[in-house]
Amino acid sequence: MSLLQVTGLTARYGDFQALFGVDLTLDAGEAIAIIGANGAGKTTLMRSISGVLRNAPEMIRLNGAPIGALPPDAVVAQGVAMVPEGRRLFASLSVEENLLIGAHGRKDAGYWTLQTVYDLFPILKEKRHVPGVSLSGGQQQMVAIGRALMSNPRVLLCDEISLGLAPVVIRDVYAALPRIRDAGAAVVIVEQDIGQALKVADRVYCMMEGRITLSGRPEDLSRAAIHDAYFGVSA
Ligand SMILES: Nc1ncnc2c1ncn2[C@@H]1O[C@H](COP(=O)(O)OP(=O)(O)OP(=O)(O)O)[C@@H](O)[C@H]1O
Ligand SMILES: [Mg+2]
Repeated sequence: MSLLQVTGLTARYGDFQALFGVDLTLDAGEAIAIIGANGAGKTTLMRSISGVLRNAPEMIRLNGAPIGALPPDAVVAQGVAMVPEGRRLFASLSVEENLLIGAHGRKDAGYWTLQTVYDLFPILKEKRHVPGVSLSGGQQQMVAIGRALMSNPRVLLCDEISLGLAPVVIRDVYAALPRIRDAGAAVVIVEQDIGQALKVADRVYCMMEGRITLSGRPEDLSRAAIHDAYFGVSA
């Protein structure tokens, strides 16, 4: 049984249908990447899994248990945490207070505490008393990741954590991934940078217009197939 199983997932915004029967699995210990152009439905998929958008219960299962209809706080309590697109830090709160918000939904004690998050991103310890929003983009992204880790998730959803960051900063952020996986989280990475996705993921799913158009292990996917699945096949 997969740790996370998405089956026939649909999603709508009013009259607009954004997802059309998405199927996806994530095994314990795995890292998968979701790639796709702007508007493909990647964030809608993340918001559906995390409970921000509600679904039929059985469309999303965690260890076999239906979680598709649970609200976000219950999804976190079940062990699924999201690093949202755009980081979404609390402007009036310090770095440390932002991190502690993440511990709020925690079910069990686990590897991740303030101390282990500070070990992962030492700069955050230095800056722990300053407002989160006064940090650089990369540091804010580290706070957003740390905040999600503070719930000790079994599944960590990361929505475009490299967006708008300089290459050297992207490298620093992604350098945290092996340790996050070692600590026991399976990871879903949403990326527009195909190269980055292929580098860090065990398997890749490509989305276009609300559907999965291709999936597989990076070594089994040709550049041409990915290009077609990402941009559509030109007639
Ligand atoms: N709140 C909303 N109301 C109406 N339509 C929406 C809303 N959010 C997203 N959409 C539409 O749903 C589709 C999928 O959007 P989504 O944000 O999931 O794509 P994405 O793959 O995350 O794109 P990006 O790479 O730009 O973040 C798009 O057509 C988008 O315009
Ligand atoms: Mg998005």
